[in-house]
Amino acid sequence: MKTNFLLVSFFAISLFLCIQNVASQTLSTAITLIVDFGSSTPYVNSECGGILDSSNTTIYPPCKSFKDAGNRARQYLNSGLAIPNSNYLTISVINTAITPNIDGESAQLGNLFGFCTVDILIATTTSRAIVDGTLSTSHFVSLQEPNVPNTSYQCSSGKTLRIRNIEFKNWGNQTIVYTNLNQVFNSLTKQSIFFTTVYTWFSNSIINIQPKGTNFEYGSVAFQCSGGYFNNIDSSLTLPPFNFNGANVAIIGSRFLNSILNSSPFIYSSIGLFNLKATSLIDNVVINNGHPFVKTLNVGDNFYYTGVRISNCIFSKFLQHENNQINAPRESAIPHISLFQLSNNIITSNNDDPTNSFFSFQNYQNAEYTLSISTINSENVQVFGNKSFICNQNGNTSIYGFEIPNTFPIGLITQNSYNNIAESGVFSDIPFAGINSIFEFNSIPFYSTLNTTNFNYCDSCRISIDGQVVYDNL
Ligand SMILES: *[C@@H]1O[C@H](CO)[C@@H](O)[C@H](O)[C@H]1NC(C)=O
Ligand SMILES: *[C@@H]1O[C@H](CO)[C@@H](O)[C@H](O)[C@H]1NC(C)=O
Ligand SMILES: *[C@@H]1O[C@H](CO)[C@@H](O)[C@H](O)[C@H]1NC(C)=O
Ligand SMILES: *[C@@H]1O[C@H](CO)[C@@H](O)[C@H](O)[C@H]1NC(C)=O
Ligand SMILES: *[C@@H]1O[C@H](CO)[C@@H](O)[C@H](O)[C@H]1NC(C)=O
Ligand SMILES: *[C@@H]1O[C@H](CO)[C@@H](O)[C@H](O)[C@H]1NC(C)=O
Repeated sequence: MKTNFLLVSFFAISLFLCIQNVASQTLSTAITLIVDFGSSTPYVNSECGGILDSSNTTIYPPCKSFKDAGNRARQYLNSGLAIPNSNYLTISVINTAITPNIDGESAQLGNLFGFCTVDILIATTTSRAIVDGTLSTSHFVSLQEPNVPNTSYQCSSGKTLRIRNIEFKNWGNQTIVYTNLNQVFNSLTKQSIFFTTVYTWFSNSIINIQPKGTNFEYGSVAFQCSGGYFNNIDSSLTLPPFNFNGANVAIIGSRFLNSILNSSPFIYSSIGLFNLKATSLIDNVVINNGHPFVKTLNVGDNFYYTGVRISNCIFSKFLQHENNQINAPRESAIPHISLFQLSNNIITSNNDDPTNSFFSFQNYQNAEYTLSISTINSENVQVFGNKSFICNQNGNTSIYGFEIPNTFPIGLITQNSYNNIAESGVFSDIPFAGINSIFEFNSIPFYSTLNTTNFNYCDSCRISIDGQVVYDNL
């Protein structure tokens, strides 16, 4: 009897304490943490930046580093105050005139996987903060799923990471933004990453999006970058500065400047989309060893390269667009290339590469792709070796509205391809080279510009104009 009484009392008291605890602490979905690199107000154990419990009016000093802000954010996730699956984190940098101390980890937020939305921004939209990664030991920020399947914090409305007005400097080979999330699990709850006026200097790995495990989901991550400036990359990594897997990528009004790449493309995108748009500029970029500026694998649908200016560059290939039909997500692809300007460039040759061309398209065989190219202006472009403008290998292609500039000695190199060409002109001395291909020109105002004397560079090919076979060696 006595024991029962004690037990009941114990439960009553526990319940009372419990209720009191709930009453004094409020669950919340959003926290804002302030970072001020110049603050001198002390704090301990990363207790800085802001409150975790919205009912507690304690005032915390600003965090002095991104490391402390990241730790504080994780304290919130572990505090029991967070509502799983809807946590919203804002990290706001104030007083940006002062750059952070360079002590490696201070520049790192770490893994913020538990949040559904992470906004990292500068309090005013007119200034930028500089985050120096000289001594960094890991990423600036990552979203990395733990090795436990279907862990909590699978956000029902997707995951979003936004970075605005931050300049990253001296990150060397360290990847600045890294995500490793289960794309299949999240296939209905997409991931989005936004860069707005993000600048980088001396940083060779800007973003790396990887699926957790081996499963990709076509276009399950949206990446959008606008107003970016990417400067002074000097990389010998095989990892491209922009590396996307399973992403729909749109880079808008951004600049790629003063860089050298020895062992990778500038941008790689597989199983998704790639778009480069609106007055984007590529200036003074050197890419060695035959790597293209953009390489895509198994991307589909419509994608656009519009309003791109390439100046003072040295490279062999702008675009390598491949389809290996493993994981090929879409039956067709339509690259739209327009308002393209080339000036003062050196296009090198790579005679070991059978697709030795400026634009190369491979293996769209049991599918069809349409290449829509218009308004390519080229001035003072030096082209070396037997370079062709377009390579079509194992493709079934419709090509519209292009003029192949006569600076390219060969118009198209084609292998095992069917090419349906309309409204186009080929000014190269050798319009077609290669083997085992069919060209059908239809209602073309320009075919008089084809140099028919050199059709025989296309071994086993058939060429017809408006239904008339003009060359047949098939
Ligand atoms: C508010 O939070 C501070 C620091 O965590 C704590 O010391 C204090 O007891 C809390 N106040 C209330 C009313 O819960
Ligand atoms: C994880 O969740 C998905 C979707 O709800 C489900 O299909 C799968 O079986 C789950 N896996 C495990 C290991 O629980
Ligand atoms: C960066 O990576 C390249 C290629 O792996 C290597 O040669 C170079 O030493 C690395 N740089 C640093 C600072 O680690
Ligand atoms: C090209 O692809 C289209 C659409 O899939 C198909 O109808 C046509 O027969 C193909 N042509 C050749 C020559 O493969
Ligand atoms: C270009 O191709 C022709 C014919 O195949 C070959 O004779 C010549 O050596 C090549 N030139 C270069 C620079 O590779
Ligand atoms: C066609 O090519 C041949 C050989 O390269 C060249 O001699 C000739 O001038 C070209 N014809 C025209 C009309 O450009």
